[in-house]
Amino acid sequence: MSNNSRCRVCGGTVREFFDFGRQPLSDAFAPPDADFTQEFFFRLATGVCEGCTMVQLMEEVPRDRMFHEDYPYHSSGSSVMREHFEQLAKRFLATELTGDDPFIVEIGCNDGIMLKAVAEAGVRHLGVEPSGGVAALAATKGIQVRNAFFEQGTAGEIVTEQGRADVIYAANTLCHIPYMESILTGVTALLKPTGVFVFEDPYLGDIVERTSFDQIYDEHFFLFSAQSVQAMASRFGLELVDVERLAVHGGEVRYTLAPAGRRTPTPEVAALVAQERERGIADPATLEAFGARVLKIRDDLVALLEKLRAEGRRVVAYGATAKSATVTNLCGIGPELVEFVCDSTPAKQGRVTPGTHIPVRESAAFAQPYPDYALLFAWNHAEEIMAKEQEFRDRGGKWILYVPDVRIV
Ligand code: SAM
Ligand code: TMP
Ligand code: ZN
Repeated sequence: MSNNSRCRVCGGTVREFFDFGRQPLSDAFAPPDADFTQEFFFRLATGVCEGCTMVQLMEEVPRDRMFHEDYPYHSSGSSVMREHFEQLAKRFLATELTGDDPFIVEIGCNDGIMLKAVAEAGVRHLGVEPSGGVAALAATKGIQVRNAFFEQGTAGEIVTEQGRADVIYAANTLCHIPYMESILTGVTALLKPTGVFVFEDPYLGDIVERTSFDQIYDEHFFLFSAQSVQAMASRFGLELVDVERLAVHGGEVRYTLAPAGRRTPTPEVAALVAQERERGIADPATLEAFGARVLKIRDDLVALLEKLRAEGRRVVAYGATAKSATVTNLCGIGPELVEFVCDSTPAKQGRVTPGTHIPVRESAAFAQPYPDYALLFAWNHAEEIMAKEQEFRDRGGKWILYVPDVRIV
């Protein structure tokens, strides 16, 4: 590939390594009778920065197209994630939020899945959430929410109104934000010298090693690694002081940044950076090999679905994830191959999936009657979903997985 762009972190040259082609907005679930001639598409392609190793999209989608009043993703839909964030809130309360009148700011608090426990503990907090619908849901839980995009200006306003923060936290949000200079300038202004900036996002190392290519879509602008985050932090007077690998969402890393020189980095930081270098996770050859594996998965999945259709089998999908937009649009999977997708999110039900327009139905539709095969789009919640849907298996149903390769289980 010869396409280049400028790195949104360091200004270096970003070299393209994979082109997913024309893709819709991953969370644009439209009514079935919408005017699809107006559907928004962009070119989804990924590149790696020659300067700082940051993997990023070649093209940016305007943020208001993705995050607005009707943003349909509700974080609290997963019991595993509710538990995950409650544990973290408790950890913050016991460690970083023990001083006099502590203050935590969450960037992208969504429906309040993490801040709920903080609010219940009576600790001063603020969620910054641009998507009006989910921000309103958080407010109903007694959480203080500011319905705005976090950026440099917002950070300044928060400092003036409420002072600086002991913890700034973001989950599955920082990687959504291309305008990183504004964010990190804002973070450094808002953070106390003794404070920490903690964020967790899908990990490049897991994406490459598991070929979880569906982690790449409009909202996931950056695919972070310890190496690229370390370089990014140092440009803004921050330092990467801890990393923690997480199993959630198919493999993530929780990064802890502190003002440079304030905290001693844990041994895990150097160990993960060394492992990344040894494995060459951001090397052009590794990323090109990843691209070749993506094409094989595409071909295998389409061949399997066409074979099942030819045999007259019923196939439905499970979980109308944002991730699945990349799969359905890369593979050309529409209602002729997958009858419908069931999903627990009311805002997605009765609508159709972006780009290839598969109907989305409520979770109960899955069993009415059970299909022969279920394509698990929400593979990151496999354990939770397979346990909940044990009866499907008991009655002879089979799951289709496509990460790290196409398999029937
Ligand atoms: N933190 C939740 C979680 O982990 O489940 C929500 C993650 S959701 C995938 C990403 C959230 O980031 C959305 O609710 C979106 O509205 C929000 N977001 C996007 N850009 C933002 C910005 N500049 N400042 C604050 N939130 C933002
Ligand atoms: P996520 O992979 O971005 O977290 O999205 C998961 C999607 O799957 C979301 O639309 C909710 C849906 N879902 C179900 O339908 N049933 C479930 O049991 C779980 C955990 C998720
Ligand atoms: Zn760069």
